Amino acid sequence: MTRTSPDPAAPDKGREVRGMFASIAPRYDLLNRVLSMGLDQRWRREMLARLPELQPGERVFDFCTGTGDVALAMAPLLGEGHAVHASDFCEAMVARAPEKCRPERGAPPHFLVSDALAQPYPDRSFAAATVAFGLRNVQDPPAALREAARILRPKGRLLILEFSKPPRSWFSAFYRFYFFRILPLVGRMLSGSEIDAYRYLPESVWAFPTPEELARELESAGLSVLEQRPFLGGAVVLHVAERPDT
Ligand SMILES: C[S@@+](CC[C@H](N)C(=O)[O-])C[C@H]1O[C@@H](n2cnc3c(N)ncnc32)[C@H](O)[C@@H]1O
Repeated sequence: MTRTSPDPAAPDKGREVRGMFASIAPRYDLLNRVLSMGLDQRWRREMLARLPELQPGERVFDFCTGTGDVALAMAPLLGEGHAVHASDFCEAMVARAPEKCRPERGAPPHFLVSDALAQPYPDRSFAAATVAFGLRNVQDPPAALREAARILRPKGRLLILEFSKPPRSWFSAFYRFYFFRILPLVGRMLSGSEIDAYRYLPESVWAFPTPEELARELESAGLSVLEQRPFLGGAVVLHVAERPDT
């Protein structure tokens, strides 16, 4: 049977994922708000509450930024003299970010097109890196973690917000039904795309490492895990990791 969504295990997953996000880019923000019932913005704020204290002039980097929601929420929190850089490998997604900037919310982030597997920055460039609902979509997540660790300064933080398969409970049974049955139908109606991004979403979450496995991948990338905080019965997890003091 021909697939109408990216295969999370395909060798050319990156190309398929980029095409999928390009096709849903015009409706991506609307879909996020409707399908998460507004909770996505609350989870992003929880993530930003874990940013480290910044030294004068330090910068923060949001990768897999999509339409820039994390970068735009972060900019006014940092204050004078700090810059936000934000990138995505799908030009159609990141192209929507600048039009969402508001002058009253401080200096706009620097948006660019780049791949999470090869960031265009020298080692130790940033005090923190963030990624919301992006790591699961990357072709090679351990390589993206190593790349994030490389560009962090000593004691810099990596904050990851990502879906997770919730532990078994009455909630997980209900959630599974919503995630595999309702969400793909509503997503298909609202996205206006031929590609079933909202069939790919639950499949990619079920294929993604558990929090324990991700903690091991973070350690392998040279980072220490400080916190793994579940939201919504474990359907979303905030991972906080830090580069050692070297
Ligand atoms: C679900 S969206 C998340 C966007 C945003 N962070 C948010 O919170 O709404 C995932 C994004 O990851 C991007 N992405 C996937 N693989 C990537 C890679 N290798 N390098 C850069 N961006 C990537 C996609 O293009 C997409 O915009």
